[in-house]
Amino acid sequence: MKIYVTRQIPAAGIEPLSEHEVEVYAGEVPIGRNELIEKLRTVDAVIPLLTDELDADILGYAKNLKVIANYAVGYDNIDMEEATERGIVVTNTPDVLTDATAELTWALIFAASRRLGEAERLVRSGNFKGWAPTLLMGQGIRGKTLGIIGTGRIGTRVAQMSRGLDMKIFYYDENRNETLEKEMDAKKVDISYLLHACDYVSIHLPLTRFTRHLIDAHQMFRMKPTAVLVNTSRGAIIDEKALAAVLKGGKIAAAGLDVYENEPEVAPELLKCENAILAPHIGSATLEARSKMAELCATAILDVFAGRIPGNMVNKEVWPDRRQ
Ligand code: DGY
Repeated sequence: MKIYVTRQIPAAGIEPLSEHEVEVYAGEVPIGRNELIEKLRTVDAVIPLLTDELDADILGYAKNLKVIANYAVGYDNIDMEEATERGIVVTNTPDVLTDATAELTWALIFAASRRLGEAERLVRSGNFKGWAPTLLMGQGIRGKTLGIIGTGRIGTRVAQMSRGLDMKIFYYDENRNETLEKEMDAKKVDISYLLHACDYVSIHLPLTRFTRHLIDAHQMFRMKPTAVLVNTSRGAIIDEKALAAVLKGGKIAAAGLDVYENEPEVAPELLKCENAILAPHIGSATLEARSKMAELCATAILDVFAGRIPGNMVNKEVWPDRRQ
């Protein structure tokens, strides 16, 4: 079988596939659309990145493709309807990056609260003139209110990691999260109330047509002037330009972002906001998580080739009709 991997990934994702013909794209930036189309024409499986858009048009060229093992937990880069229609199995990398992403979320919460971006820039610029009683005062976190928008695996873990900080937890999700209610005494509320009541708001939703710009200017105006907004899910869930305006106008205190609407571009207005902590989409970037993600992709491909349903398949409805 022929497998194409659109970027160098840890060996744990390549070695198990050694019995097959594997080609790995050697470039340092995402593969171009035309080159990807050429590769997809003949392969049986592909491991794409979240930066590779597998839309209906591209999938139309992938006549032999049986499985897309997306090297990410989010799969908004794939036209799922088209893949499913074509009988292509799509898998993702859940669980193995939950801790990494939740930890980065907390890094952003701490960094935004304590103004670490500004602090670092001050020291590096040589302008640190010594300890001062009012230098870069931030906000304490202990005992504050944490709002989690989307309580799947990562949102749940972020809430659980607040243990020790005695935070009150509100969450917004379609489904009740009994684990959080029992373990953390979390309360399910509607999104407007959450935004209005919380000191920290952290977003953990998938990007869909329903969640795009879910947090727009109107919603951000509900937030406290002392609030901190954090996003480690997908950039387009927040209206980035509106966020920049809200941060600039002091309508909220700070933001911590790992994701952007049009990566790798970041709204120029946002780059100017001193009160925004900006990370380059590194939520899952730990050695442990990235290696496990690779392993999961390889396992999923081998499962499909062997006629087994991969545990991390996201379009289960494909299975009965899957092409052989
Ligand atoms: C994912 O896997 O969807 C993450 O965004 C990667 O960091």
